[in-house]
Amino acid sequence: MSPSPAAADSVFLAAARGEEVSHTPVWFMRQAGRSLPEYLKVREGVAMLDSCMDPDLVVEITMQPVRRYGVDAAIFFSDIVLPLKSVGVDLDIVPGVGPVIAEPVRTLADVERIPDLTPDQVPYITQAVEGLVGELGATPLIGFAGAPFTVASYLVEGGPSKDHAKTKAMMLGAPDVWDALMRKIGQIAAAYLKVQVDAGASAVQLFDSWAGALTPQDYVEHVMPHSARVLAAAGELGVPRIHFGVGTTNLLTLMGEAGADVVGIDWRTPLERGIELVGPERAVQGNLDPALVFAPTEVMTARAGAIIEAGRKAKGHIFNLGHGVIPSTDPDQLKKLTDFVHEYPLG
Ligand code: CP3
Repeated sequence: MSPSPAAADSVFLAAARGEEVSHTPVWFMRQAGRSLPEYLKVREGVAMLDSCMDPDLVVEITMQPVRRYGVDAAIFFSDIVLPLKSVGVDLDIVPGVGPVIAEPVRTLADVERIPDLTPDQVPYITQAVEGLVGELGATPLIGFAGAPFTVASYLVEGGPSKDHAKTKAMMLGAPDVWDALMRKIGQIAAAYLKVQVDAGASAVQLFDSWAGALTPQDYVEHVMPHSARVLAAAGELGVPRIHFGVGTTNLLTLMGEAGADVVGIDWRTPLERGIELVGPERAVQGNLDPALVFAPTEVMTARAGAIIEAGRKAKGHIFNLGHGVIPSTDPDQLKKLTDFVHEYPLG
């Protein structure tokens, strides 16, 4: 299979390519997950990583927000550390904490012990994507991977970190180990994206969620070339590439130049400013504050309307939150937000 032909004319892909659209397309990062009662029900007694390796469950969980909200794209239900688990890294996703690595990576030997990813290691990914593309019909599926820096942070710190101190210490103090680690993660990310696109995903998103912790200089010297290799490999697959991080006002121009077709903008950067920084050659995605969903509906939709208006100055605009759906979000508010974006007149 190749990118789903049924989804080729979707509004989501048109906006990603910068073509004219009948309405602004909308989907939400973390649209599947704990905010949905139907998710909590099917996940009962199933560990997060086990659910990611069960194709029937992945299809069901990925479809849940598409059925409920009628969003313009599905995002493959998985996690940025899943491919590491698939190649044999000893890790777990601890509820309420996030990914935890049994033996953090500190030396070149630690890096060399991590195998490359080959498609035969992830048959459950291929099966889940193929199943989804059949169910989704004309709705495109977004595949994703974690970018080298964000995944490296989990591997080096051993778990979630606020300051990324050990990661930066390796980046600046042991450049040979850092380079090997970033190349390894880049290989895994590129291979993982290829598996998803070969099975029918229509677009990919590279999550560099924690890149905002870097200065532009360190990003350019130690991170961007590795993300650029992953994005270039994804470009060979012929699907749009979305590149996203949090707190990245100072990096938005570079994140586009790394090889993105669409740059994701978090809610701290006004969309107008984000569009200027990204430039006329790329589309943008975002960027309602995920907490605005807790405001009265009219307050939320007024802000959403302003974002849609600002988005018209971009090459293309995909509406999203500025980061993932907060688990305590009321799904009815996301339904109202989806309908509002769909009904907003662009004419
Ligand atoms: O709907 C979707 O967006 C698809 C699913 C998805 C998950 N993780 C499922 C998940 C996606 C795209 C991710 C990516 C991911 N994972 C990122 C990048 C996106 C971002 O949020 O910036 C990062 C940094 C991770 C690492 C990670 N995994 C974190 C920080 C957590 C949350 C920890 C917690 O419990 O608060 C996870 C676990 C995780 N990944 C959950 C889900 C639904 C929660 C686990 C559960 O439901 O038990």
